[in-house]
Amino acid sequence: MRLRWISFGIALLLSTTAAILFTSVARASDPNDAPPPAQIENQVCLGCHSNRNLTMKLPSGETLSLFTDQAAFNASAHGRQGQRCTACHTNLTGYPHPPVTARDVRDFSIQMYAICRQCHDKVYQQSIDSIHAKDIAAGNRNAAICTDCHTAHYAGKPSEPRSRIPQTCQKCHSTIYNQYRESVHGAALLDQSNPDVPTCVDCHGVHNIGDPTTAAFRLKSPEICAKCHTDKARMRKYNISTNVMNTYVADFHGSTIELFEKQAPNQPTNKAVCYDCHGVHDIRQINDPKSTVIKENLLKTCQQCHPDATASFPASWTSHFDASPTKYPAVYYVNLFYTIFIPVIIGGMLGFVALDFARRLLNRFQKSGDA
Ligand code: HEC
Ligand code: HEC
Ligand code: HEC
Ligand code: HEC
Ligand code: HEC
Ligand code: HEC
Ligand code: HEC
Ligand code: HEC
Ligand code: HEC
Repeated sequence: MRLRWISFGIALLLSTTAAILFTSVARASDPNDAPPPAQIENQVCLGCHSNRNLTMKLPSGETLSLFTDQAAFNASAHGRQGQRCTACHTNLTGYPHPPVTARDVRDFSIQMYAICRQCHDKVYQQSIDSIHAKDIAAGNRNAAICTDCHTAHYAGKPSEPRSRIPQTCQKCHSTIYNQYRESVHGAALLDQSNPDVPTCVDCHGVHNIGDPTTAAFRLKSPEICAKCHTDKARMRKYNISTNVMNTYVADFHGSTIELFEKQAPNQPTNKAVCYDCHGVHDIRQINDPKSTVIKENLLKTCQQCHPDATASFPASWTSHFDASPTKYPAVYYVNLFYTIFIPVIIGGMLGFVALDFARRLLNRFQKSGDA
């Protein structure tokens, strides 16, 4: 019995040592952790690739430019780190290179962007479920990959200046960019470098962009706006009310949306969310003649869902504002009337009942005293 345990112990010891030895050998041959002794200087690669006219033909007939701009590379996030060409191009150790299997230029890019994963695995993992990655996997080759947004050789700080972000998306979403550019948010960013307004990624995320056309996204969307529009410090600068979320949730549209969001987050809803009234990428200041909520356009906005609404329909609604003697005076005075009227009536009733009760009690005592 004891012998068996001893031999088991020895076997365990041996196999662990072997495993440790094996992994350290494997590690040493991992090009990222411990570079192979024959490091290839960037100058070797650039000796051929700084030639502007170096190109190659791909099977599709398309031409791939093989020029790498040395100065721009050195100024990039990777160049400044002193990274070697071979840190990324781990399969290229000299010339001739192994044969290329890509059919065309886009195919080449899609094969190559996996390189980024070696060092940015966290971002890569985040991006797997994004709409762009799903589209790529489904065969839509135009969806964005790392190098579309960052380039392969000239990556810099992607959000400096902040206007760079929408400009990155503009490459492929130019119609939306043009709407955003004219909106209250986009104009503030692009004309005034305003740091308080949303760029594309504040509403959509960056590497994990989801599908914005789902019911779940729609139901959650008021929270995107509320993040900033209930932030008192941020809104004070622009004299914009931070009551917009409260009043929305208290309203028939918002209370249903809130309920759905909690109870049935994937159910489609026809109730209005913020962007049904205000627009999405084209949100305007409320007194802008093009605003969807300015008085002149408001009826049309309601009619999207209330087709029979007439001019008096929006007027009967207090929008985001608590009624006051200056805003919605009719509603205000009706409310005021009820605030006074109801307590007076109910108070009167209660008083009446109490007095009546006391009287009856007194009568009864008097009667029993008489007997
Ligand atoms: C002697 C000139 C020469 C040198 C040195 C050279 N290349 Fe190339 N490279 C070429 C040519 C020519 C092509 C076109 C395709 C081919 O002939 O294989 C090419 C193609 C490429 C390609 C695209 C096709 C592929 O194989 O992926 C990459 C990437 C590349 N080189 C990177 C590098 C890197 C990195 C180095 C340094 C380690 C390097 N090259 C060194 C000449 C050179
Ligand atoms: C941060 C990683 C990275 C580094 C560092 C890097 N490359 Fe690349 N390289 C890539 C990727 C990714 C591609 C594929 C780009 C695409 O989509 O066409 C590529 C493509 C290329 C190509 C093919 C033509 C092209 O631009 O698509 C050449 C040539 C090349 N690299 C040369 C170099 C040289 C020379 C260096 C060093 C000065 C270098 N690379 C450094 C990632 C890198
Ligand atoms: C060999 C490792 C390595 C590879 C491969 C690599 N990177 Fe990087 N990358 C780095 C390092 C290191 C930094 C600098 C990190 C820092 O400054 O915080 C960096 C910085 C960046 C930045 C700038 C981040 C910032 O906030 O300034 C971007 C963008 C970026 N990489 C994109 C890419 C893309 C796209 C690819 C694929 C083409 C890629 N990287 C491949 C190591 C790598
Ligand atoms: C649709 C465009 C887009 C794609 C695709 C994309 N990025 Fe980014 N990336 C951005 C933007 C925009 C930022 C800046 C976000 C910010 O600062 O709010 C960023 C930030 C970064 C940063 C610096 C900040 C951080 O999160 O570490 C790195 C590194 C990076 N991206 C790497 C990658 C890699 C690797 C891939 C591919 C797996 C990738 N990106 C795909 C647009 C993109
Ligand atoms: C290289 C081109 C490219 C770039 C750059 C790009 N996208 Fe896309 N994007 C696509 C394609 C292609 C699709 C899928 C087709 C479609 O539905 O429009 C898509 C889809 C989307 C969708 C989902 C659309 C839907 O109807 O479901 C969103 C949201 C989106 N992109 C946001 C962004 C944002 C934000 C940026 C910038 C950070 C960006 N994209 C950068 C090409 C790109
Ligand atoms: C204030 C928040 C916000 C900002 C900023 C924003 N979006 Fe959107 N985006 C949304 C919402 C909400 C939807 C869903 C609209 C719908 O379903 O009608 C959407 C939908 C989309 C769609 C898919 C539907 C379509 O219209 O094709 C794309 C693509 C998109 N946005 C890209 C962008 C890009 C690119 C930018 C920056 C230029 C941007 N968005 C800025 C909130 C925003
Ligand atoms: C049913 C339509 C409708 C919905 C839903 C709606 N709004 Fe409004 N919103 C309006 C109207 C109308 C005005 C203009 C009120 C006025 O001029 O008196 C307005 C005004 C605003 C203002 C300007 C306030 C100010 O102080 O100038 C903001 C900000 C705003 N809304 C944000 C939101 C947000 C955020 C949501 C979602 C949580 C939302 N709205 C939902 C119709 C709507
Ligand atoms: C990142 C913060 C942020 C997010 C997210 C955001 N906004 Fe804004 N919004 C602002 C700021 C800041 C302003 C004021 C800009 C200015 O006046 O220069 C503004 C202005 C507005 C205005 C104009 C108000 C006026 O002055 O008449 C409306 C309407 C509006 N936003 C609605 C929305 C809606 C609807 C959403 C969600 C779809 C949203 N915002 C998301 C920050 C944000
Ligand atoms: C995206 C669609 C949509 C938009 C836009 C919209 N509503 Fe509604 N609204 C609804 C739905 C759905 C109901 C619930 C109707 C029901 O249950 O019969 C509702 C209910 C109402 C009610 C409760 C009384 C009733 O008719 O049932 C009022 C009042 C109302 N909306 C006013 C407005 C006003 C004013 C506007 C324009 C500023 C507006 N709505 C814009 C979808 C919308």
